[in-house]
Amino acid sequence: MDARAVITALRDGRPVPAGGIEWFAQGLATGAVSDAQAGAFAMAVCLRGLGGAGRVALTRAMRDSGDVLAWDLPGPVVDKHSTGGVGDVISLLLAPALAGCGVYVPMISGRGLGHTGGTLDKLEAIPGYRVEVAEDRLRAVVRDVGCAIVGATGRIAPADKRLYAIRDVTGTVESVDLITASILSKKLAAGLQALVLDVKVGSGAFLPGADQAQALARALVETANGAGCRTSALITDMDQPLARTAGNALEVAEAMDTLTGRRVTPRLRDLTVALGAEVLALCGAAPDAAAGGRAVAAALDSGRAAERFGRMVAALGGPADFADRWADHLPAAPVVRDVFADAPGHVAAIDTRAVGLAVVALGGGRQRESDRVDPRVGFSGLAGLGARADAPLGRVHAATEADAEAAAAALRAAYRIGGGTVPADLVQDRVG
Ligand code: URA
Repeated sequence: MDARAVITALRDGRPVPAGGIEWFAQGLATGAVSDAQAGAFAMAVCLRGLGGAGRVALTRAMRDSGDVLAWDLPGPVVDKHSTGGVGDVISLLLAPALAGCGVYVPMISGRGLGHTGGTLDKLEAIPGYRVEVAEDRLRAVVRDVGCAIVGATGRIAPADKRLYAIRDVTGTVESVDLITASILSKKLAAGLQALVLDVKVGSGAFLPGADQAQALARALVETANGAGCRTSALITDMDQPLARTAGNALEVAEAMDTLTGRRVTPRLRDLTVALGAEVLALCGAAPDAAAGGRAVAAALDSGRAAERFGRMVAALGGPADFADRWADHLPAAPVVRDVFADAPGHVAAIDTRAVGLAVVALGGGRQRESDRVDPRVGFSGLAGLGARADAPLGRVHAATEADAEAAAAALRAAYRIGGGTVPADLVQDRVG
């Protein structure tokens, strides 16, 4: 196969020669395809699209460019993927809650991207927790505990790793086809029977518009099902931070408060139940979503989910008593300040992306790939849409006084104070 035959067919909107997409994906992984050819391929897909069958072919081929896990476990293997947002700590609740329902969750997660937080960065706030583990360790933890949240090894979907880096520098990130194949190739390499997708919409979403979220959700669901994994998506609100905190250790603490029932954040619990309900029904572990939701709620209320989380942390190198004494283990920032609004009124709108960027500026995310993340910093007690603005808008946790001052100004600028508003429903739509 000649890479030019694949690229020119895509460029001209003609059918790609048989086996061309598969050959191209393999060539990305082996190096048979050059950077220039990969960039031209990405641009052709960006401009002309792949179509449904082409998207499935690219997803499967990128999945198969590296290791694909096969499991021999006494229950279904499932996962969740979120398109990312601010205060989105659902993975830390959902993985152990699902494990507490008798299904297995090898959750291969990512780091923060742009203004969005990353599950691996959050878990690394836990002293000793190792996100980079070999495949046999991942297998052992999933078998013994029911869930393991870890990073991808270099052997998972190497074609995506290369194409993603090239997209990043060729203006070809924003393609629904390429985003779909990128996300799903990594997720499906974990050998899943069912997958639920949390596609965010609103000011803190990666693709903020409702039409974009719908298009991405449809493409993801059709492609994953086409590749043999039962999948549905919920489109969920990101017009305000999902949790009351944003920042790595702060979000872990809020997840623990909700997991253990000590201080529940309703939006975290409700979305955990809604997503868990979907995936339990998809994999057949529950007769329908209503029964799935009851099972997830019972795993949370009984303490089973918290217990699984504690076992996962210990198995991956963290403190053995984390689920009981997380506050003693999580690092805390030296400077903590309340942030008040400039004017009275109610919270009328939140630029959620700006809140996420303020966390990055505090050091809670990366501006360059080589940056070290400070797990201590961020915001807590974030006011939600419609809240009265005479209470603090939030509390900044910073490494220095100067950082705290800059973050307070950024938070004030991200909040529009006015006559208040009725927040959108948390779950706005279902695609499946
Ligand atoms: N996340 C991914 O893994 N890939 C994309 O292309 C976008 C978001």
